[in-house]
Amino acid sequence: MTRVVLCGFSYGGYSKSIVIDKHFVLIVPTGLDPAGAAPLLCAGITTYSPLKHWGIKPGMTVGIIGLGGLGHMGVKLAHAMGAKTVMITTSKDKAMTAIKLGADEVLISTDPVAMQGMINQFDFLLNTIPGPHDYNHYMNLLKIDGCMSILGSIGPTAELNTEPMVYGRRTIAGSLVGGIKETQEMLYFCAKHQIVADIELIKMDQINTAYERILKNDVKYRFVIDMSSLS
Ligand SMILES: NC(=O)c1ccc[n+]([C@@H]2O[C@H](COP(=O)([O-])OP(=O)(O)OC[C@H]3O[C@@H](n4cnc5c(N)ncnc54)[C@H](OP(=O)(O)O)[C@@H]3O)[C@@H](O)[C@H]2O)c1
Repeated sequence: MTRVVLCGFSYGGYSKSIVIDKHFVLIVPTGLDPAGAAPLLCAGITTYSPLKHWGIKPGMTVGIIGLGGLGHMGVKLAHAMGAKTVMITTSKDKAMTAIKLGADEVLISTDPVAMQGMINQFDFLLNTIPGPHDYNHYMNLLKIDGCMSILGSIGPTAELNTEPMVYGRRTIAGSLVGGIKETQEMLYFCAKHQIVADIELIKMDQINTAYERILKNDVKYRFVIDMSSLS
């Protein structure tokens, strides 16, 4: 018979100490700011894994669709891998930020003329748009054999036009975070290239305000809780 003993609250990842199987422990390299490194364990690995899987390297052109939490990491990582990196955004006012993050160019996806001008230009597209949207809008940006990897939209989608796939062997794929081994590899890569997430450090008693701001999409690009503010 299993006996369950309840002893107070469980704070999970917010605990001051935690016992864990060593196979699930990651080394954060010295030289990486711990606060900026924290979101690498989600937004960092989620964007690193597909860029690595699809062999992004110098000479390739990569489009990062959506400048938010994932997108800002995607730009930094694709740039560090040596690819020509294009930020594909609906927001004209994010253009300067995208360039500062490492984008070589910015493509405004709501501008039909600009979109037309970039047909057949991309080896790879990293699509971070949350929720269902029209994938067909981006497919012709890919070169023959190019791939668009979906990160943000999980579930059924509107009708897909298979023409770009049949005529150009283009593919749509997806990717989910990443495993422990690859996450460690990503942390070493980030240390080598001095990459961390752009964050706002908050105290625990600010989380309700932070939550309200998240609902308004008002964070660049992740909140990180300073646990030392509790002691
Ligand atoms: N696959 C995985 O393993 C994984 C892991 C973590 C998160 N996710 C998911 O990834 C998604 C993105 O997360 P995030 O933190 O990057 O979100 P976010 O910070 O809200 O950024 C998403 C960006 O997408 C663009 N966008 C939003 N709605 C759009 C629309 N209707 N059409 C075109 N562009 C649109 C906007 O960028 P612009 O203003 O630049 O257009 C927005 O800033 C979420 O759904 C999240 O749950 C997936």
